[in-house]
Amino acid sequence: MVDTSVNLCGIKLTNPVIPASGTFGFGYEFTRFYDINILGSIALKGTTKEPRFGNPTPRIAECPSAVLNSVGLQNPGAERVLNYELKTLKSIYKKPVIANVSGFSVNDYVSAVNILNEDSNIGWFEINISCPNVHGGGLAFGTNAENAALVTKTVRGITNKPIIIKLSPNVTDITEIAKACEAEGADGVSLINTLLGMKIDLKTKKPLLANKTGGLSGPAVKPVAVRMVYQVYEAVKIPIVGIGGIASADDVLEFMLAGAAAVEVGAANLIDPYACKKIIEDLPKAMKKYGINNLSEIIGGAHNG
Ligand code: SIN
Repeated sequence: MVDTSVNLCGIKLTNPVIPASGTFGFGYEFTRFYDINILGSIALKGTTKEPRFGNPTPRIAECPSAVLNSVGLQNPGAERVLNYELKTLKSIYKKPVIANVSGFSVNDYVSAVNILNEDSNIGWFEINISCPNVHGGGLAFGTNAENAALVTKTVRGITNKPIIIKLSPNVTDITEIAKACEAEGADGVSLINTLLGMKIDLKTKKPLLANKTGGLSGPAVKPVAVRMVYQVYEAVKIPIVGIGGIASADDVLEFMLAGAAAVEVGAANLIDPYACKKIIEDLPKAMKKYGINNLSEIIGGAHNG
């Protein structure tokens, strides 16, 4: 019997597979497909203090082995998430969840975290400083080490829950941002958010997305993500949540060998709502295939020797 459990910032997960924020709603929507209690945890839809309608459409474009999105942080706002989404999920899902929070100013992050902080089902905050699809927030924090440090330090000061900072790949050196977050008290980092991209519609001869640019995710970005997880593992001591094109149990092992303590599965959920279930079911088989008995023992294994 192999051991798939891992520890994320002091909280034990039965397995490392977590649906990524923005690809799994607030979790309860997926109960029509399977018992979501098999998931290691769930990263909830990105939440801002105020409700947001999101960007104009079209805001999704298919690409080879990838998807471009420019959703623009559509969400019902922190009060509604606290009073409806989290309460609904609580009646179904019996493990700690990850609340993903975005903002357009440091005060926005503070307001949203303060509202959600009282919910005991939230095990971690994932602080999104890397949304490429909004102006005046998101990337403005995630592409500058000082800004990333300021958000981290401020949020650190208002919650006792572990905070995981979600990092952008749209930087010259992601390790500098990760180190700045660690220095200001981040309990973990998650990476990568999407890569800034564009698709041109040959019929209109214009960018296909109404927002012109979007964030690229899916299997096409996986080697970039694995490289960044590997680099960040060498730069910081805090746990890493690996994200980027994960679609199979083999992908999970690859990210963990690079240094991830857990993983988030994103675009795969858009293709197949059963993606996380299949990965969790396949994980023990993949571990046996590669002679792995204890999953947590392989974290960072690619760095040894
Ligand atoms: C979006 O809502 O535009 C995507 C969120 C993100 O990439 O952080």
